[in-house]
Amino acid sequence: MQDMVVLSNLSKTYAKGGVKAVDGLNLRVGHGEIFGFIGPNGAGKTTTIKMLTGILNPDAGEVAVDGIDMRRDPIAAKRLIGYVPDGGEVYERLTGMEYLCFMADVYGVPDRLRRERIERYLELFEMEDAVGNQVRSYSRGMRQKITLIGALLHAPALWVLDEPMVGLDPKAAHILKEEMRRHCAAGNTVFFSTHVLDVAERLCDRIGIIRAGQLIAVGTMDELRSAEHAQTLEGIFLELTDAEEA
Ligand SMILES: Nc1ncnc2c1ncn2[C@@H]1O[C@H](COP(=O)(O)OP(=O)(O)OP(=O)(O)O)[C@@H](O)[C@H]1O
Ligand SMILES: [Mg+2]
Repeated sequence: MQDMVVLSNLSKTYAKGGVKAVDGLNLRVGHGEIFGFIGPNGAGKTTTIKMLTGILNPDAGEVAVDGIDMRRDPIAAKRLIGYVPDGGEVYERLTGMEYLCFMADVYGVPDRLRRERIERYLELFEMEDAVGNQVRSYSRGMRQKITLIGALLHAPALWVLDEPMVGLDPKAAHILKEEMRRHCAAGNTVFFSTHVLDVAERLCDRIGIIRAGQLIAVGTMDELRSAEHAQTLEGIFLELTDAEEA
């Protein structure tokens, strides 16, 4: 079986700034894997994720999602993806329910399935009472929750989340982690970035560390531990990301 995500020699330089935000990145993530993407601010995580989801075109290199080339067949590739961007920006004037129906329409989720899933996730994330209100009245965490639900309605084979824990209360964060596990247990793939290293350490099958646009380490926690002195992900992160300055 081919890998769910294949990034080959991906590079991106923004017109403004001129530095290579992502620099020749190669990465494979398999079916059923939870992959954690960590790295310092400005390292290139969001840029990589935007290329993976087809929002940004790479300057060079290729993205394949379950064997589908993002450049050649972007619609087919994007159909497989549920994307939760960072920042929780949602259409302000829609109600939560209108937003969810919009997402279900975009991804062509049949009526019965969408009703089941919306009901299930609203209950899971305790959003039943808020779903009738306009998104502009939502707190940061509520915006994050409605975005998470919207990205799950088509049961995506690949769930891509950019710093999904930001703004969530401890219970919602716990539910999200369980949902990520459940999603992978069903054979799907989760790819997420985070700065919460203890979550990454406990949740992920494999972890990639990016610094200055380059993947400087990738592997299971055991593999990372055996390659570095430190034993915690925090220690390994500090060791690797400080190495240049030392
Ligand atoms: N729209 C943009 N225009 C110009 N430069 C950008 C833009 N977005 C990102 N960059 C630059 O690209 C580099 C990588 O940024 P990116 O947002 O991918 O980092 P990140 O790893 O997601 O960081 P963070 O942990 O802060 O979210 C940085 O040097 C950043 O300044
Ligand atoms: Mg980012």
